Amino acid sequence: MGIDKQSKSCFVSQEELLKQKEYAALAGSVLSSRFTDKPLAFVHTYGCQGNVSDGERIKGILETIGYGFTDNVEDADLILYNTCAIREHAEDRIYGNVGAIKKLKKSNPNLIIALCGCMMQQQRVAEKIRKSYPFVNLVFGTHVIHRIPELLYKVLSTGKRVFECEDCDGVIAENLPIRRDGNIKGWLPIMYGCNNFCSYCIVPYVRGRERSRRPEDVINEAKELIAMGCKDITLLGQNVNSYGKNLDCGINFAKLLEQINDIEGDFIIRFMTSHPKDCTKELLDTMARCKKVAKHLHLPFQSGNNRVLKEMNRGYTREQYLELARYARQVMPDLSMTSDVIVGFPGETYDEFKDTLSLIDEVKFTSLYTFIFSSRPGTKAASMPDPVSRDEKGVWFKELTDLQEKIAGERTARMKGEIFEVLCEGYAKEGILNGRTQGNVMIEFPDVEGKELIGRFCKVKVTEPLTWIVRGELAE
Ligand code: SAH
Ligand code: SF4
Ligand code: F3S
Repeated sequence: MGIDKQSKSCFVSQEELLKQKEYAALAGSVLSSRFTDKPLAFVHTYGCQGNVSDGERIKGILETIGYGFTDNVEDADLILYNTCAIREHAEDRIYGNVGAIKKLKKSNPNLIIALCGCMMQQQRVAEKIRKSYPFVNLVFGTHVIHRIPELLYKVLSTGKRVFECEDCDGVIAENLPIRRDGNIKGWLPIMYGCNNFCSYCIVPYVRGRERSRRPEDVINEAKELIAMGCKDITLLGQNVNSYGKNLDCGINFAKLLEQINDIEGDFIIRFMTSHPKDCTKELLDTMARCKKVAKHLHLPFQSGNNRVLKEMNRGYTREQYLELARYARQVMPDLSMTSDVIVGFPGETYDEFKDTLSLIDEVKFTSLYTFIFSSRPGTKAASMPDPVSRDEKGVWFKELTDLQEKIAGERTARMKGEIFEVLCEGYAKEGILNGRTQGNVMIEFPDVEGKELIGRFCKVKVTEPLTWIVRGELAE
């Protein structure tokens, strides 16, 4: 299978990966001369599933260097925050957390504090850390995860601060070590970056241009996941349905989905996030046809008003979105739809906001991720006049969440008495198991002694629908 020039240049070379292996050994020897016990790393990831998936690779790399892991920040010899920049609140939280761990350096002078992820990919943030947080040893952006061994070795061997946050179009590093957070559910990134430049969004600036992994690499990772017992695979990308656009082997997202569906085994396939402008009927037909693909579509609409959608640079209209939703439900009558929505985009009026409410009422989403607009420096929307106060936006927001609560309650009420196939994920509390329906509704049900249900698909009958989750019992 061929790849075009653009994507060839974004693959990290074998030589580079070998060089990093050597750095990992060097960093490991510094660690063993400094610590008698295995040094421990505390790694915490914020933000989206793409970042969580990066976090799993970061932990894999740290493991090869010689770190063990702890959930207790006070026991750590390396504290690493993998950050998110999507909203101001996400950034404020990081500053607060970093400030709070400064004191730990007193009791552990060998402690290394490191920051990475989307927030660090912004120059103004890296500069602020450089000036105002002198106790932070290592700062790196989203494009150099594969170079952690080298960066850490520099910090360990020189004692100097290291900053590596260069902007670039982005890379693809295959075959990195990985330490997965669990083995029942697995994240599988299929593409990175975003080219859409929605006017409010920081992601294209901090994640670089769209680039797709080779289909054979994706399929191999899917097979690995299945072989290790994974039952729920989520394909990840900021815009999964533009998968393959930069490859020249004729693949697209619908075809990839079909190929993964054809892999032997008992598992379910999810994916996120789809962009309405690239959501084709071919994709919806493929979803409908593929037995292992969950009948769940997360399709962010952001606003129900055409003027606002245009200002957001989303590339579709309300009517086009509604037509997609209609077609999706026509070919998949039991489809569950979820979405993202922004309240109070700069210049949005209450009348325009009401179009968002009416779209929600029409589509009847299972659940919504709802956000109040947050201005991101450097984006186009950050310089748009924004006359509506935060308090006013808060009132609109409440109106929206009340409406969605009513819709969700009506949806779950209709589930009563129905039987769903659910992957049992673990314990919600003692004696009570949980899992999700294909449509992403959480179900809790009592454990049955001797059945060992965790990691297995079970049939569960809904007995008590609540608003956001439902309770049930094993049906067979
Ligand atoms: N790539 C995905 C979503 C990425 S970010 C997509 O295009 O749908 C997840 C969600 O955060 C977005 O869908 C949007 O609803 C929200 N979001 C992004 N930037 C935001 C901002 N500046 N203020 C408020 N919400 C924002
Ligand atoms: Fe952000 Fe838009 Fe890209 Fe999603 S599609 S990551 S909202 S720019
Ligand atoms: Fe946040 Fe970066 Fe994801 S900004 S939402 S962690 S791509």
